[in-house]
Amino acid sequence: MSYASLEDLLAEGVRGRRVLVRSDLNVPLDGNVPSLRVTDDGRVRASLPVLRKLSEAGAAVIVLAHLGRPKGAPEEKYSLKPAVDALEGLADFPVRRASDTTGESARAAAASLQPGEVLVLENVRFDARETSKDDAERAAFARELAGLAGSDGAYVDDAFGAVHRKHASVFDIAQLLPAYQGDLVQAEVEVLQELTQDPKRPFVVVLGGSKVSDKLAVIDNLIGKADRLLIGGGMVFTFLAAQGHKVGASLLEEDQLDVVRGYLSRAAKAGSEFVLPTDIVVAEKFAADAGKSVVAADAIETSPYGAGGLGLDIGPATGADFAEHISEAQTVFWNGPMGVFEFEAFAGGTRTVAEALVAAGKSGALTVVGGGDSAAAVRGLGFEDGQFGHISTGGGASLEYLEGKELPGLTALERN
Ligand code: 3PG
Repeated sequence: MSYASLEDLLAEGVRGRRVLVRSDLNVPLDGNVPSLRVTDDGRVRASLPVLRKLSEAGAAVIVLAHLGRPKGAPEEKYSLKPAVDALEGLADFPVRRASDTTGESARAAAASLQPGEVLVLENVRFDARETSKDDAERAAFARELAGLAGSDGAYVDDAFGAVHRKHASVFDIAQLLPAYQGDLVQAEVEVLQELTQDPKRPFVVVLGGSKVSDKLAVIDNLIGKADRLLIGGGMVFTFLAAQGHKVGASLLEEDQLDVVRGYLSRAAKAGSEFVLPTDIVVAEKFAADAGKSVVAADAIETSPYGAGGLGLDIGPATGADFAEHISEAQTVFWNGPMGVFEFEAFAGGTRTVAEALVAAGKSGALTVVGGGDSAAAVRGLGFEDGQFGHISTGGGASLEYLEGKELPGLTALERN
């Protein structure tokens, strides 16, 4: 299976052509309308190179992107405006804006767009057809989007974070215009292929985040492939409870206990080792300034807060243990914070894991940070992108890739 690349499109020539680019500008925001602020511009930065290349080659570029999950109609809090402000601040090419997706504003702006200019439409999810389950509805929206590019237009998918979505601007539009894979999608897929096809061993996977139910499929698929699975974050309590331990008021998904028990027994036979915390930072309540105490992972209710205490981070002994496993690895994939890193008092585990990845990378291991929360966590804790082998821009997309699922945004670009 092969894909046409951005280089192929540039070789064909884009001067004077209108090229639609699907970017992932779904950035985390802070504050309230009208003063929303981008807290992590990683995705905007990652989108720049393709836009720059097309602009420099003389294309009139039209960017399609989403932000958040609006319900199919315009809503100020989901406007792409803050993301476009960030793009404009970083860009060395002219940035134009439309106030709708395929309405009057977008059509007029697209028609007058000059070579080298980059026009960003409003949030494509402001149109309910973008995410519709009805193929005909999505196709109709895709036709309107493609219409903005005209008869010699082209489509580039550079939104790795959205390739797992069967949406009009990701999937359907690729059937209507000559379609190309952007550099970001290409780079992300190459790294994930390295992880899944023949990873250098030991291959260690670190999984965190609050819900085990979000990670079930990836855990399922990595049993037998990863040498070790280090488990932290809120989901650890479902593992501890599955082993028969009491977890106080910590996050617990009772309906997943049997599934987790199944994973624990399967892993032993498949040659993958689950490494669970030996100690936990237990808090009095869910607050930045909550009282805290470190206790053994199998005795959480012995903390001063009894059955009311809740685990908000892995403990220091666990951090040291995880760091040692990471230091022995040749390949590390990490997705999901180890604790409530947004509260400094409970950021220790996440910081320790990030430091261990940085050190492993220096010793030659391939270190990959899955997107979403983990990427925001490492940047929020002051780490630089360059300290890791790769920071994915796609949270859900990279997990679904590792789950072995077919990704509609990639399938749509295949050429035989
Ligand atoms: C992400 O944030 O992972 C991507 O931008 C996809 O967003 P979505 O989960 O709302 O489809």
